[in-house]
Amino acid sequence: MTHTIDYKGFYLAFRDISRLVHSSTSVQEVIDLAVQKTTELLNARGALLRIHNRETDHFEVAAACGFAEQYLGKGPVSREQLKLDLNHRDDVCIFKDIWQAPRVDSPQRAWDAGVRMILDYPLHHDDAILGVIRVYLAEAQEFSQAQLDFTISIGEQCACALNKARLIENQQSQYNHLVLQTEKLSALGRMAAGIAHEINNPLGGILLYSSNMFKKAGDGDPCKKGLEIIMRETTRCKGIIQELLEFSRHKAPDKIRLSLNDIICKALSILDNEFMLRHIKVTKTLADDLEDILLDGNQMEQVFINLLLNAAQAIEKRGHIRIETRLDADHGLEIVEIADDGCGIAPEDAGKLFEPFYSTKSTGTGLGLAVSYGIVRNHEGQIRVASQLNEGTCMTIELPLDRPAPSELRNQGNA
Ligand SMILES: Nc1ncnc2c1ncn2[C@@H]1O[C@H](COP(=O)(O)OP(=O)(O)O)[C@@H](O)[C@H]1O
Ligand SMILES: [Mg+2]
Repeated sequence: MTHTIDYKGFYLAFRDISRLVHSSTSVQEVIDLAVQKTTELLNARGALLRIHNRETDHFEVAAACGFAEQYLGKGPVSREQLKLDLNHRDDVCIFKDIWQAPRVDSPQRAWDAGVRMILDYPLHHDDAILGVIRVYLAEAQEFSQAQLDFTISIGEQCACALNKARLIENQQSQYNHLVLQTEKLSALGRMAAGIAHEINNPLGGILLYSSNMFKKAGDGDPCKKGLEIIMRETTRCKGIIQELLEFSRHKAPDKIRLSLNDIICKALSILDNEFMLRHIKVTKTLADDLEDILLDGNQMEQVFINLLLNAAQAIEKRGHIRIETRLDADHGLEIVEIADDGCGIAPEDAGKLFEPFYSTKSTGTGLGLAVSYGIVRNHEGQIRVASQLNEGTCMTIELPLDRPAPSELRNQGNA
C-alpha cells in the first residue's frame, strides 16, 4: 500500500533540520530531530541513528525515537554485526520481510513490537561512513522515489552535522596541541636563554686563554695540536650558544632602508671560504631594478647565511648554489631564491623544517630555519620551500615593498 505523500511536512522537516545544522553546534539536537521527523513523516514505529566511532570502528546508538528507544541503552555494534553493504553506499536498504533480512538481529522482538518492515540508510561524507539510520515501520508498504529522496536528504543533513562536529573536534584538538607545544617551547626557550647566557662567559674565557697559550707555544710544542682542537670546538660551542640566544631573544627588527642585494653580497663574502673548501660553485644573479626596502640588515644577513649554509651542507661533494633576486612589482614584492643541487628533502620531512630543534645533521642545532622564519615573518615576508629528494632544494623569500602593490590597488578598486 502507498501512503499519500505529505510534501509540505517533508519540506518543513527538512527546513527545520537544515536550520539546526547551520545554527547549532550540538549534533545531538540535529540527530534527535532527524529521527523524530523521520518517524513522523514515514508513519514509522520508530527510528534509530548509530554513529561510527573511528577509534573502535564500532557503531554507537546516538539517537532513537519510538520503538527504537529500547536500543538506547544497548552497546556498540561492529560493521560485521550491522552487515553493512558498502558497495551500495547511497542506497536505502528496504527489508520487507524482517524474518529473512540478513541485517536484522532480533526479528522476534521487532515483530512482537509490531514492526513489519525496516529501512536502513548509511550516512556518508566523501568516502567516510559516519553512521547509519534505521527506520522501523508498522506495515509493509511501497515507498515513492520522493519519500526515499526525503529520507536520503535527511541523512545527508545528519552527515553534514556529524562532519561539522568532527571538524570542530579535530580543530580543537590541534589547537590544544599547538597551545601545549607553544607553552613548552617558550619555557624551553627561557631555560635555553638562561643556560646559554651562563655558558657564554666561561666559553669566552676558555677561548681567550687557549688562544693565548696557542700563540705562545713554539712550533714543535706537543700541546699545540690539542690547543687548536680546544679553540675550534669552543668556537663551535659559542656559535651554537649564539644561535640559541638569537632564537630565544625574539628581537624586534630595527629596520632602515637598505639594499637587499648588498646584504646578500655581504652574506656571500662571509661564506666564501666555506664554498671554496666544499668545491661549491655559486652563481649570483642579482636584479638591478630592486629598490631599497625597510630591513634589519643584521637579521636579514643572518637569514641568508643560514640558508646558504644549509644549501652548502646539503651538497656532499661539489655542487652548485644559485642565488637570484628579482622584483615582482605587480605584487609589491622583492624575491630572493636560493637553490642548491644537494640531497633535497623527503616530502614527509618538509613540514618539520621550521620547527625549532629539528635537525638531520649530527652537529646541527635545528635553529637556523626557525630563526630565519621568525625574522622573515617580522619583516612581513614569507619563506617557502620547494624540494625534490636527491635533486635539490629551492628556498624562496618574499619581502614586501613598503608601498601598496598595483595588484592590491586593483583589488580594492574592484571591491
Ligand atoms: N637546502 C637544504 N637541503 C636539504 N635539507 C635542508 C636544507 N635546508 C634545511 N634542510 C633540512 O632542515 C633541517 C633544519 O635546518 P636548520 O634549522 O638550519 O638546522 P640545522 O642546519 O642546524 O640542522 C636540516 O637539518 C636539514 O635536514
Ligand atoms: Mg642550518
